[in-house]
Amino acid sequence: MSDAAALLSVRGLSKRFGGVHAVDHIDLDVAPRETVALIGPNGAGKTTFYNLLSGRMQPSTGRVIFDGRDVTGLPPHRISRLGISRSFQITNIFPELTARENVEVALTALHGKALRLFSRAAGDQELHDEAQALLDRLGLGSLAASRAGTLSYGDKRLLEIAIVLATRPRLVLLDEPTAGMTPEETRGVVELVRQLAQTSEYTFLITEHDMEVVFGLADRIVVMHRGAVLAQGSVDEIRASRVVREAYLGEED
Ligand SMILES: Nc1ncnc2c1ncn2[C@@H]1O[C@H](COP(=O)(O)OP(=O)(O)OP(=O)(O)O)[C@@H](O)[C@H]1O
Ligand SMILES: [Mg+2]
Repeated sequence: MSDAAALLSVRGLSKRFGGVHAVDHIDLDVAPRETVALIGPNGAGKTTFYNLLSGRMQPSTGRVIFDGRDVTGLPPHRISRLGISRSFQITNIFPELTARENVEVALTALHGKALRLFSRAAGDQELHDEAQALLDRLGLGSLAASRAGTLSYGDKRLLEIAIVLATRPRLVLLDEPTAGMTPEETRGVVELVRQLAQTSEYTFLITEHDMEVVFGLADRIVVMHRGAVLAQGSVDEIRASRVVREAYLGEED
């Protein structure tokens, strides 16, 4: 099914590593403002799928259409500028810079040119204010002047999300944003994503191993297994699906 209104349309997308079909002919449509959870056991191909969407890896076959435009195989910086931004499974920040400086770097990459139209001081002030506003929104406002390397693990992951949002994405790819977090930190991130999803224009694709988190957050769940889409549907449909329970949820027991 091809959906003209989809923000993201993936068709026949595949990635092989030698004999491994890491991503195997995936078809997927994501509507604007939808929050889609991508789940599946270790090695199912979730991170590889994100790597293909974000331009970090070239697909073996297939197409990625974003907002009606074929972005297949474009380099990461161009895809990012078009509005797809991703977080990494591993924390990806500059530890020596402050939290706010980390966000400023991302903002500069986004609209460095526009800022050069202002005087240097005005441009700096604007950057500073925008970075602070973003940190406030993520509950990190009071840590803006702290060196990023000194933040707690959970706050580092939040900062990483701030850096992702600083690129003004329309599609946000979150690869296990709560990995390694305490239950309390996990709740914080889930609540944040829920709020962002409800109060902003963002569209989310999120990978998460904790089923409670997934069921509480997603508009739709896509289950990957051995590189392919095994099933997709609402939370209730996936919960009730025997094929999913056997292939995936069952494996967790
Ligand atoms: N750069 C690579 N070179 C070779 N094989 C790779 C590479 N990246 C991933 N793979 C293989 O592709 C398959 C899918 O891996 P991927 O990391 O995408 O899974 P995942 O669903 O993200 O798993 P996890 O839940 O553990 O993060 C695995 O068999 C993995 O070993
Ligand atoms: Mg992964």
